[in-house]
Amino acid sequence: MSRAVCPGSFDPVTHGHLDIIGRAARLFDEVVVAIGVNPSKSRLFGPEERVAMLERALAGFTNVRVEGFTGLVTDFCVEHDAQAIVKGLRSSGDFDYELPMAHMNTALTRVETVFLPTATGQSFVSSSLVKEVASFGGDVAAFVPDFVLEALTRRLAERQSAQRAEQQGDA
Ligand code: PNS
Repeated sequence: MSRAVCPGSFDPVTHGHLDIIGRAARLFDEVVVAIGVNPSKSRLFGPEERVAMLERALAGFTNVRVEGFTGLVTDFCVEHDAQAIVKGLRSSGDFDYELPMAHMNTALTRVETVFLPTATGQSFVSSSLVKEVASFGGDVAAFVPDFVLEALTRRLAERQSAQRAEQQGDA
């Protein structure tokens, strides 16, 4: 059985991620989406929230499952008997960033990295940009599932009101 891991932070998941995972699910018998849950990194959404979002977005796939992970992605691949890591490439910048990691991961455990070019309509989309645009009130509805948009709008509003309360407390 062929098995691939799609690792990422998914903070939050975008249509670009879902395109790559869906295409990986057609290439491999099984796909495990591995959500990096490094507690030292500050994220907009917590680990459980990100897992729940991916599970909901991928509910239509019978050969995809979602798990959180800490530590090395190669250890996760060994534990799950996965032969490949699948990553999306949006640009040459992504390639420059990903290539040394792909070499390192193969050197560590012989796991291969398969790069899929991002769908052309999604090549400029990233979780970071989606968060930034949404935080200034921009319309990001085209880039994330509807339920993610709702969660994102709610979380950003909560953050902004917490920041305002903090500033008023400081004044
Ligand atoms: O979506 P991101 O933020 O690019 O995802 C990053 C993630 C979680 C895939 C990456 O940080 C990762 O693989 N972390 C695990 C640590 C690891 O294996 N590092 C060595 C890479 S050669």
